[in-house]
Amino acid sequence: MALIDSFGRTIHYLRVSITDRCNLNCDYCRIDGNELLPNNDKLLSLEETGRLIKIFTQLGIERIRLTGGEPLLRNNVLSLIKEIGSLPNLQELSLSTNALLLKRYAHDLKKAGVGRVNISLDTLNPKTFSTITRGGKLQKVLDGIATAVAAGLHPVKINMVVMKGINENEVGDMVEYARHHGLILRFIETMPVGDAGKQVSDRYIPAEQILTMIKDRFSSELIPVHQKVGSGPARYYKIGNSKANIGVISARSRHFCETCNRMRLTSTGQLVLCLGHEDRSDLRKFIRDGATDEQLKEQIIRGVSLKPESHQFNNNSHGATHQMTALGG
Ligand code: 5AD
Repeated sequence: MALIDSFGRTIHYLRVSITDRCNLNCDYCRIDGNELLPNNDKLLSLEETGRLIKIFTQLGIERIRLTGGEPLLRNNVLSLIKEIGSLPNLQELSLSTNALLLKRYAHDLKKAGVGRVNISLDTLNPKTFSTITRGGKLQKVLDGIATAVAAGLHPVKINMVVMKGINENEVGDMVEYARHHGLILRFIETMPVGDAGKQVSDRYIPAEQILTMIKDRFSSELIPVHQKVGSGPARYYKIGNSKANIGVISARSRHFCETCNRMRLTSTGQLVLCLGHEDRSDLRKFIRDGATDEQLKEQIIRGVSLKPESHQFNNNSHGATHQMTALGG
């Protein structure tokens, strides 16, 4: 069984947001003081989430990433992870996190079946960290990363959103940090998703410029790595003859929609087909109306057929109003 959209793309990857809550308040992701948290009754229960994920895997989803908000804030997240971890058709279960709670959870996550974690870290400067996250403590994140590595979560990937005037001067330092700790580093272009993302659109730095910064800093060529790393859209490069790989995710300057393999499920049960479009399917309504597994499968297949060909990030009139806080990247 495979989910194939109307442009012939096979969709085998589902990102599942299990809470909109977050223990950081990054300004490019969240509007300050505007939490927009859904009511509890709108939130899918863990049972509903587990049921849907199982159905997705029966339809051909092979990779699941739990995200948020901050997924580790969801009560009983480990029980959900254990349940998903034992699904027969699943090839990979991963997590996107800000690492604040990894000191507490990393070992349990590993035991419960999480293979890999992606960690958001935009700066190594405590002050800049506090500014971007509106009060967050950098050291806790660094401790969380160290625990993830020690727990054997592998590879640990670091996502850095590179922003003009904020952290662009740290691109080289991040490469050194990642190399030193054996982490895979990816640089992400700021995306105009949600009100917060749109407000910081002027911080956008194209991937080519980020690559130039790295070449200059290390006086080195960047050699494209053709071997596939993960199932995501990052393009990877080796820095000269060193072992260090870095990746760029150029969602805006050079989009990769033609190879898109993913969908997103929000914590309220909305199946979102593209970060840059409104198209979605309300699976919660079907579940709560008593739909059978077969009926849910039909609805998911119908949803996949709505997946748009590409986002319109460079067209300011694009209509998507999703908040990144509800989609987890
Ligand atoms: N642009 C680019 N990346 C973003 N993320 C959140 N908001 C944005 C945005 N507006 C990233 C986070 C995290 C990932 C899940 O999504 O930094 O690494």
